[in-house]
Amino acid sequence: MGEKDYFITTAISYPNGRPHIGHAYEAIATDFLARFRRLDGERVYFMTGTDEHGLKIAQAARAAGQEPKTYVDGMVGHFQAMIDRLDVSPDRFIRTTDADHKACVREFWRRMAAKGDVYLGRYEGWYSVRDEAYYDAEELNEADDGTKLAPTGTAVEWTVEESWFFRLSAYQQPLLDLYAANPEWVQPASRMNEMRAFVERGLQDLSVSRTSFDWGVPVPDSPGHVMYVWLDALVNYLTASGWPAAGWETRWPADLHVVGKDVVRFHAIYWPAFLMSAGLPLPKAIFGHGFVLNRGEKMSKSLGNVVEPFSLSELFGVDPLRYFLLRAIPFGQDGEWSHEAIARRINADLANDLGNLAQRTLSMIAKNCDGRVPPDGPATDADRALLTSVAGLRAETRAAVERVAIHAALDAVWAKVAETNAYLNEMVPWTLRKSDPARADVVLYHAAEAVRQIALFVQPAMPASAAKLLDQLGVAVDARGFDAAHSALRPGDPLPPPEGVFPRWVASAD
Ligand code: MSP
Repeated sequence: MGEKDYFITTAISYPNGRPHIGHAYEAIATDFLARFRRLDGERVYFMTGTDEHGLKIAQAARAAGQEPKTYVDGMVGHFQAMIDRLDVSPDRFIRTTDADHKACVREFWRRMAAKGDVYLGRYEGWYSVRDEAYYDAEELNEADDGTKLAPTGTAVEWTVEESWFFRLSAYQQPLLDLYAANPEWVQPASRMNEMRAFVERGLQDLSVSRTSFDWGVPVPDSPGHVMYVWLDALVNYLTASGWPAAGWETRWPADLHVVGKDVVRFHAIYWPAFLMSAGLPLPKAIFGHGFVLNRGEKMSKSLGNVVEPFSLSELFGVDPLRYFLLRAIPFGQDGEWSHEAIARRINADLANDLGNLAQRTLSMIAKNCDGRVPPDGPATDADRALLTSVAGLRAETRAAVERVAIHAALDAVWAKVAETNAYLNEMVPWTLRKSDPARADVVLYHAAEAVRQIALFVQPAMPASAAKLLDQLGVAVDARGFDAAHSALRPGDPLPPPEGVFPRWVASAD
């Protein structure tokens, strides 16, 4: 006790439709980071969830002919099922309709009000219902029919309402000071630059309550007002820490908020300003990942080109889908996916490289070594070089994870896969078997030991497949943390019969 958890979060998703591959991507990437740190010996608290209030949800419920709560209860089930299906391992799935969250956000509001940062005014402006955001007149475009459009392409309407305001303008300098003191507070650097430029242009006070609808958390002592959905949503991270109940400091501040590039602004500007106002510590870092694009289009429910994560995971398998998304898209950049690209990765990286390495090593051992870990023996320079290189995995992957470069961590693992395959090709144990069986055993021992270590570091990306590999290597379930990397297979230990873990992808005839 006493030590703080590594607290990592995804954004919380709007359940105004079923989850799409963009939601899956963020959940899988954050899960990779959480799993990595757990295996690396850290105490991790990983939170994901749903953002259930606001006009957009109320409208979706109305369109479905349901009460908002009934509607979100149904929709949230799909998000929770996605999390389970994709082997995402949160410690808490938070819903902004949870009682502890509503109490937390009301207390948070009182703190900002006590600081003198909240005042009553009138809000009028160009409001986009879809974006739940007001826009300045100079930001707008005009459609052919004269409709005014937000920069995001959604329609805006002139809207007037009584509203509580948050004194965001007072936080311009504190925010600039924060960025200057912590240049890596927002990553990648391009996003930090955007945020700094945005704040330097000046900040206006922010409307933080609504009277035009009631699907939200009521503002304390202010009948008719519900809280602005982004205030409600951002505070969810604090709720998950347990605040204001005792013990919240063992989680808060969050170590990393993983969010999409479109919502970095809310996390990098509003959120720290709210927290400074409430007198609470700031999260340590915000990482803005890119968009997963399908045929170059930003995916969204209303554009109708959504590709369902469930059917993709049925088609390709959960782990291959996870692997593709993590390896093929440099984390932080946009990336495209297609069925062909996933199939190519499965065949090249999984079936040919890792699968073949594991399969040929284990099947030679099964056939020639009596189904036991082969005897070790005098090692050559090449044997030692292989294991020395593989022993570098922990430091190499850790360095990549420190800079949230998930793809780079996997690059490091697959470099060891290639080295171990090259080692086998050079050592030709299948030929040695006849000429020098004792040497063949030593080679297979080293190859199996390399596969064991590689499999440990495959776990955060492909937990189920890595578990199968480790089962086949006879590695005990409690010897799968990265601390176990320096232990070794014990010659003579019995091994179960090998089975292929990464089948080739063959397109079906239809
Ligand atoms: N509810 C807000 C976030 C509040 S966080 C306090 C929201 N919800 S969302 O459902 O629209 O998006 C949830 C997350 O998924 C966001 O981080 C968003 O950037 C991300 N993505 C949504 N579509 C995406 C892709 N096509 N690709 C990658 N991530 C995407 O925003």
